[in-house]
Amino acid sequence: MTDYLLGLDVSTTGAKALLIDAQGVVCASHTTPHPSSQPHPLWSEQAPADWWAGMAQSIREVVTNIESTDSIRAIGLTGQMHGLVCLNAAGDVLRPAILWNDQRTQAECDEITQTIGPERLIQLTGNRALTGFTAPKILWVRRHEPDIYAQIAHILLPKDFIRFKLTGEYATDLAGASGTLLLDVDDRQWSEPVLDELSIPRAWLPPVHEGPQITGVVSAAAAQETGLKAGTPVVGGGGDQAAQATGVGAVRPGIVALTVGTSGVVFAPLASYAYEPQGRLHAFCHAVPGQWHFMGVMLSAAGSLQWFRDTLAPGVDFGALTNEAASIPPGAEGLIFLPYLTGERTPHPDPLARGAFVGLTARHLRPHLTRAVLEGVAFGLRDSFELIRNSDAGVINEVRVSGGGAKSPVWRQILADVFDVPLVVAEALEGAAYGAALLAGVGGGVWPDVATAAEITVKLGERVEPGAQAGEYADAYQLYRDLYPTLKPAFERLADI
Ligand code: XUL
Repeated sequence: MTDYLLGLDVSTTGAKALLIDAQGVVCASHTTPHPSSQPHPLWSEQAPADWWAGMAQSIREVVTNIESTDSIRAIGLTGQMHGLVCLNAAGDVLRPAILWNDQRTQAECDEITQTIGPERLIQLTGNRALTGFTAPKILWVRRHEPDIYAQIAHILLPKDFIRFKLTGEYATDLAGASGTLLLDVDDRQWSEPVLDELSIPRAWLPPVHEGPQITGVVSAAAAQETGLKAGTPVVGGGGDQAAQATGVGAVRPGIVALTVGTSGVVFAPLASYAYEPQGRLHAFCHAVPGQWHFMGVMLSAAGSLQWFRDTLAPGVDFGALTNEAASIPPGAEGLIFLPYLTGERTPHPDPLARGAFVGLTARHLRPHLTRAVLEGVAFGLRDSFELIRNSDAGVINEVRVSGGGAKSPVWRQILADVFDVPLVVAEALEGAAYGAALLAGVGGGVWPDVATAAEITVKLGERVEPGAQAGEYADAYQLYRDLYPTLKPAFERLADI
């Protein structure tokens, strides 16, 4: 009988179930979309019940493609990170989940930083307090919704809510737990000092597990709802970024994953724990046992191009739009784009940062603007890459690029030139769910370890070498770097208008 593995991804847009076989071949994939709500400016919420209803439907769809669910060796979970799900002692959801892209918690971030001390916080957790992270959301509920807070008995991340519905177990994985700001990332366990000093009860937090470790099995009730076999093991899995990196084979130091999706991510595995002293990079546990990773996150990468296309070139195909930019020289004849359309995280953790075209003249046509957008995103990602290149991440042997933005040959070349490194295109059509399925394969005994799983399954494509234009970005990149500090006071004033 063929062995199958199931990867489940509860992302911001939908609940996806992905079935692969032991060669890593995709057999079936189904995504059920779910809604988001923005009840106030800066807020972003979803109903956990919608995630579960959608996931149960997606699982039912994919399992119809195999003869028997007995052949599913294990299930791996991934999903949007940082989100806060509050449950009472009976396991009932107390309020809508507050998501990673919710920006309501600046006051709570300031409180955490002040309580623990800015440097000590980075030493204890590897990270600074950012509005998207989970701990400030808990403090927000305590301050603004004391009646809800009083009933909390369990805190879960989005993918761990799916785990709870599947298995009845409260559990999480180390990569996901790293994004709460409550984990001692170095020791791979909850941080007692941080929990004590923030007065968050330790009992609310689930046990932490490595990515391929089995955390429970599918319950009879969940089997009934999904069509899965009761008793199927469910492994720890990983937050979406660690799972995405696993799915492109960034599972050992030296291989960096560059993802150009709505957001942009530069992800570098680490053999031992390290943190960036100013906390500009995230320092998290990897989904690979015993590894860590640095990560830089740009909030609007392909999202910037999407906005530009929808607003200024509606109906134009992305391929045609980016091809127009190919004939424009590096630097777009003196036009720079800042991609901070939804604020920024790395290297400027600033919800008030704004996008900008700087240097517009009457000579600039649409292809110049397109070129500036592609270059501006590449410059912002290079900021993260430079932090990693100058960190303890060691020698970078290969950069594997994936995500919607990597489909454009023009953009791929700009990225290789701006970074001045060769890029290898990774076929990662199924994204984080693929990495989750690989982690399931290791936990389910199909492969001995994550490195072997990646070696067998990950498909690599074209290699893009830096070209003749690689040396021509120095001035434009330096100017790009100078613009954020120059414009920061203006961004602050704009927020009041
Ligand atoms: C990672 C992050 C996003 C979310 C949503 O730090 O914020 O990747 O997980 O996808």
